[in-house]
Amino acid sequence: MNSARSTPSAPAAARDWPPGLPLETERLIVRPFRESDFADVHEYASDPEVTRHLRWGPSAAPETLAFLRQAIAGVRTAGASQFHLGVVERKSARVRGGLSLLERAPGLVEIGYCFARPVWGLGYATEAVRSAARFAGVRFPGADLFGLVTPGNPASERVLLRAGFTPALDASPYAAWMTGVCSTARVFRQRCRPA
Ligand SMILES: CC(C)(COP(=O)(O)OP(=O)(O)OC[C@H]1O[C@@H](n2cnc3c(N)ncnc32)[C@H](O)[C@@H]1OP(=O)(O)O)[C@@H](O)C(=O)NCCC(=O)NCCS
Repeated sequence: MNSARSTPSAPAAARDWPPGLPLETERLIVRPFRESDFADVHEYASDPEVTRHLRWGPSAAPETLAFLRQAIAGVRTAGASQFHLGVVERKSARVRGGLSLLERAPGLVEIGYCFARPVWGLGYATEAVRSAARFAGVRFPGADLFGLVTPGNPASERVLLRAGFTPALDASPYAAWMTGVCSTARVFRQRCRPA
């Protein structure tokens, strides 16, 4: 049901994208951001309820724009290791969330995600994270894929567990990224495996 599908006709801009993108699931398309996504992205990036458990935000408009430009450039870099991707809801064609895969060190990749409040509870995060984990298996084979969940964010913990992550027994390899609101986070991880 949530399996990745091939893309019969990728849009023209896709020629700048790394192989394997966009990710397609039943209800979502996960693709590099575009500057024209600004209004959709700013809706959730400026929402304090959305960013409460994140190391950034809530963002002012110039911060959202700067993020988008950096994200677009990052994905286009040859050998990209910083994937900030937009999650498009097929039925509305709107970006309703963001998902990142960031290579923190060789063999160590952090996953992060957030969604606009109106689409919480629909299973979108689980669907997108499952698909991103498969992409990570191709892009970063064998790497340790980890996510940080702050106390009081059970929905995020559920998402990672359902997507095949398990609690890390030893948090020390991830300590450098456990900063700010994530200083007391729990770490969930899985090994990146090709599909
Ligand atoms: C966390 C977040 C990404 C979840 O997105 P989502 O699309 O609503 O997630 P899903 O619908 O795929 O799954 C949520 C799961 O958590 C469960 N859940 C939701 N609220 C819960 C709560 N208060 N307690 C326990 N479980 C809860 C849901 O029931 C669901 O599990 P189920 O399908 O087994 O029933 C979304 O709430 C969000 O964007 N939050 C703000 C940003 C954020 O916290 N990002 C994660 C940083 S680690």
